[in-house]
Amino acid sequence: MRISIQIFSSLLLAASVAGASENSRFFKRQSNNTDYVLKKGPLDTPWTEKVGTDPWPEYPRPQMERSDWLNLNGVWQYQNVTGPALDVQERDPGAPPFGKDLGNPVLVPFCLESALSGVMGRKAIRSWYRRTFDIPTEWNPDNRVLLNFGAVDYETTVFVNGHNATKHTGGYWSFEIDITDFLYTNVTNELLVYVWDPTNLELDRIPNGKQVIDPQHIWYTPCSGIWQTVWLESAPAERITKVDLSADMDGVVNVTVHSSGNTPSLPYDFTIHALNSDATATAQGTTNEPFVFKIDGVELWSPETPNLYNVTIQMGHDTVETYLGFRTVSQGVIDGVPRPLLNGEFHFLFSTLDQGFWPDGIYSPPSLEAMKWDLELLKDTGFNMVRKHIKVEPALFYRACDEIGLMVMQDMPSMTHEFYSRDRDPDFLPASITAMDQYDIDIITQCQAQALNRDQVLLEHQAEFNRQLAILIEQHKSYPSIVSWVIYNEGWGQPRWLPVEYNLTAMVKSLDPTRLVNAVTGWHDHGAGDYHDNHHYSYPQCGTPWYSLDSSPYDPKRIGFQGEFGGLGHNISDENAWKVPRSINEVNRTYEINPTTDIWNMRAHKLFVELTEQVELYACSGAVYTQTTDVEGEVNGLVTYDRRLNRMDVEQWKSDIQGLYDAARKRVEGKEVQMGKTASAESVGSVPVISWGS
Ligand SMILES: *[C@@H]1O[C@H](CO)[C@@H](O)[C@H](O)[C@H]1NC(C)=O
Ligand SMILES: *[C@@H]1O[C@H](CO)[C@@H](O)[C@H](O)[C@H]1NC(C)=O
Ligand SMILES: *[C@@H]1O[C@H](CO)[C@@H](O)[C@H](O)[C@H]1NC(C)=O
Ligand SMILES: *[C@@H]1O[C@H](CO)[C@@H](O)[C@H](O)[C@H]1NC(C)=O
Ligand SMILES: *[C@@H]1O[C@H](CO)[C@@H](O)[C@H](O)[C@H]1NC(C)=O
Ligand SMILES: *[C@@H]1O[C@H](CO)[C@@H](O)[C@H](O)[C@H]1NC(C)=O
Ligand SMILES: *[C@@H]1O[C@H](CO)[C@@H](O)[C@H](O)[C@H]1NC(C)=O
Ligand SMILES: *[C@@H]1O[C@H](CO)[C@@H](O)[C@H](O)[C@H]1NC(C)=O
Ligand SMILES: *[C@@H]1O[C@H](CO)[C@@H](O)[C@H](O)[C@H]1NC(C)=O
Repeated sequence: MRISIQIFSSLLLAASVAGASENSRFFKRQSNNTDYVLKKGPLDTPWTEKVGTDPWPEYPRPQMERSDWLNLNGVWQYQNVTGPALDVQERDPGAPPFGKDLGNPVLVPFCLESALSGVMGRKAIRSWYRRTFDIPTEWNPDNRVLLNFGAVDYETTVFVNGHNATKHTGGYWSFEIDITDFLYTNVTNELLVYVWDPTNLELDRIPNGKQVIDPQHIWYTPCSGIWQTVWLESAPAERITKVDLSADMDGVVNVTVHSSGNTPSLPYDFTIHALNSDATATAQGTTNEPFVFKIDGVELWSPETPNLYNVTIQMGHDTVETYLGFRTVSQGVIDGVPRPLLNGEFHFLFSTLDQGFWPDGIYSPPSLEAMKWDLELLKDTGFNMVRKHIKVEPALFYRACDEIGLMVMQDMPSMTHEFYSRDRDPDFLPASITAMDQYDIDIITQCQAQALNRDQVLLEHQAEFNRQLAILIEQHKSYPSIVSWVIYNEGWGQPRWLPVEYNLTAMVKSLDPTRLVNAVTGWHDHGAGDYHDNHHYSYPQCGTPWYSLDSSPYDPKRIGFQGEFGGLGHNISDENAWKVPRSINEVNRTYEINPTTDIWNMRAHKLFVELTEQVELYACSGAVYTQTTDVEGEVNGLVTYDRRLNRMDVEQWKSDIQGLYDAARKRVEGKEVQMGKTASAESVGSVPVISWGS
């Protein structure tokens, strides 16, 4: 049930006015939404104009859905914290503006830099957000009220009615706060949010992927502030806080239901609904410990058959809806070659590099429909995977991949990239200083100026990266579509001199033993993880005996993978261009520009011919084509940045992609699969078997 806030506005407006005259604690309702105006950005999409002021109305957390919730997306108030004295290091904004109208409207949940936010700001480093809200009167007054943020970039402090409710660090993660003790029930409540987001402007290297303050070439406009849905929810004090769920090809379900409250172990009912009938199967578990059971006669999840089972979990007075897919990801050896297996069979993994940037919303897709459009384009063309590139998407993205049947290779967002890959000499300054390098020199200078030990600073950054990597796994390990995690991309934020990937791979596998790990995609490979992954743009080198710059010889113990290739460009005409002079000037930095789409398609076909030969002859088990869409001045997408021009000769692409799958199938036909390092397929011994009933 979704309750519109409008229902309460007249009632509570009266209450708040009365309250305000009595007591200054009571806040004036925020002004109405009429002053929000969609900004004219450098480029829009077919969905921009349809967004309106009620964006992303869907329930945002498909893996733990509750019925009593209130969406807080919409027009909020916004204020940039200015002041000449503030340097980027200064995280503290000074006194919070409690009870005051802030100057400008902002449409939540769109990045402050986006046209859809109505702000389209630059250098949004310190920002205040404000709105008022009322608790729906029909919510159970004995329940707690939970405030949820899908994601806020980068560091967030949340104030509810003047109380500091929480501080959260990390631009990609969801967080929840029990705000019950701070609420007024008889008058309107005030929510004030402070965000600090330095992007790449300061000493701390933060996981931020492709965002830079000065966009150029393959680095794009940053995203600051609230960029995913904000919502309230009503739930009992003793409630389900998280569900870790995996289900394998043998019908074995492994679930841990985490609960809050005073009792650590509470019984719950776990009910699976059959796919095509009213039948259900219910198992009884106990919270906060793994519960393993088996169910017979299940249909497996795969890209070809994306079967998802609805699940209801009921614990005391709390009920949540979730879902699962039965599938097993592992590594096996077939005819002497290590292969990625899905449900015990080799699936050639064929993906795009998917940045998830939007000309109108930057990090926030304009709508669910728009977000699904990209995924359906890939599915319809024959891709069976999407590599989510150094960004983490809203939960509904992964839900869509689960439903559509697209596997996901999920990258950890990289830290600002250059510094770590330098030599360790503290006096090292390159002779030619590029704009990007300047940030690193700033760091060195700042370390010197503040008498900071640079190695200590590096260790702290690494510890923060590791902490956030663990959050990535914890928050996403229950989506069936995710098949692999990527720790480092092309050396960005990767300490070259210290092979930390071994420890990080072990950490990821201990948090999630059910998937493969791609420890480094491209460049500085030290031998860790399940993949040996090369990047070669115009000449694929996928599991081949030869190799060139920035690669290493194929390691026959690991899965041969082409983590990036393609990147073929084709210039845009004015109407599809990201109309920022620097981007247009830098179109020529796209690796290869083809004059027409016919030639672009011909070049793509040549790459497919080469890659197919490598599948036939060598140890190539998958590849990632760069990229789904153009992004800003990078004009190498299957479609343009605005999603209006599809460059593909679709029939040719379908047949070329099918050719890869056919070549891969011929390599393994009639050959026995030797289970090598299995991720999850080992026998679980005797577990209870639950049967279907109605
Ligand atoms: C709201 O409740 C508080 C205490 O719960 C009380 O002091 C205040 O007078 C009430 N205000 C209104 C407008 O009813
Ligand atoms: C709300 O919008 C109306 C119509 O534009 C305007 O007259 C009114 O002053 C606005 N109210 C507030 C509180 O801003
Ligand atoms: C915010 O203020 C800073 C410092 O005055 C300024 O550089 C920046 O452009 C402003 N950003 C926005 C989004 O208004
Ligand atoms: C808010 O509380 C957090 C702890 O949750 C603390 O780290 C932070 O400094 C506080 N911020 C302010 C402005 O009081
Ligand atoms: C079930 O999952 C937990 C992690 O949530 C893991 O530690 C445990 O080994 C798994 N059990 C089986 C039998 O796979
Ligand atoms: C799962 O539940 C959703 C509604 O929550 C429904 O639309 C869908 O059809 C159900 N799927 C199955 C396989 O029962
Ligand atoms: C890996 O972890 C071990 C055990 O905690 C530690 O001794 C070692 O220094 C770590 N190695 C690296 C490269 O971080
Ligand atoms: C790309 O097209 C734009 C016009 O949309 C033009 O200004 C620019 O010079 C072209 N760049 C290249 C490298 O062809
Ligand atoms: C791209 O074009 C600009 C002029 O628009 C020129 O200054 C620059 O050198 C060119 N870069 C490359 C890589 O050709």
